Amino acid sequence: MPLHSISRSVESIVTGTAVSDGAGVKLSRVLSTNLQQRLDPFLMLDDFGSDSPDDYLAGFPDHPHRGFETVTYMLEGRMRHRDNAGHEGLLCSGDVQWMTAGRGLIHSEMPEQEQGRMRGFQLWVNLPACDKMMAPRYRGIDAKAIPVWHPEENVTAKIIAGAQGPIRGAVDGIRVEPLYLDIELSGAAEHAFAIEPGHNAFVYVYQGDARIGNRNTVVSAGQMAILGNEPEACGVTLASAQGAKMILLAGRPIGEPIVQWGPFVMNSREEIEQAFADYRSGKL
Ligand code: CO
Repeated sequence: MPLHSISRSVESIVTGTAVSDGAGVKLSRVLSTNLQQRLDPFLMLDDFGSDSPDDYLAGFPDHPHRGFETVTYMLEGRMRHRDNAGHEGLLCSGDVQWMTAGRGLIHSEMPEQEQGRMRGFQLWVNLPACDKMMAPRYRGIDAKAIPVWHPEENVTAKIIAGAQGPIRGAVDGIRVEPLYLDIELSGAAEHAFAIEPGHNAFVYVYQGDARIGNRNTVVSAGQMAILGNEPEACGVTLASAQGAKMILLAGRPIGEPIVQWGPFVMNSREEIEQAFADYRSGKL
């Protein structure tokens, strides 16, 4: 396939680390702070998935955020979001929540199921300095509102954000122009997906084995492939022999200092201290 010659390569492979967050939810942290510069504008990716209610029931009770966006994609299960800006939403299988914390809010994310499987991702997307103190915003995107694209046999892509071929995704108007695809290759399949040159990009495989990029690097479930930024490449080839599922993320780097302290991500230490002071005095 001709696009092979202009596919990005796999620069490195990262395996998630098991952590506990919220009130004791067990999850795999795939993108952590040491990769924030390299994958700017992305700050974090968690893969939460378990059949055991003990791993997820405690949920994420009230906690603050300021300075970035949280994007939750439920593959299976139900989770209720409530925040002190007056937004409430129930995420069911296949739904996406795109929440802009902006100048700050306090929210909870609690499982609304007592048994069965829960699986999904939470991605943190940074905001440029000019938007960090914007009013909070909440978008709940129903699974049915996410365009499904079949570019060729055995290839299916749900276009959560950005565009591929003739299809625009469900979410737009985000300043870092994110591309967020959920891709299923069923059986033997291969396709070249478009990625804007200069944007940082990665693929996280969550089922099966994939072959990624111009050297057909094998990437297995639970692993993230950071894609090279070759200027001549206009995308990445994704292939599988026996089927695989993965998410592909790309976005325009912001290029500003990143200072994170827990749930706050700002540009300087002073702004982090201000966020804590505002939180303590009830201003979030
Ligand atoms: Co949160």
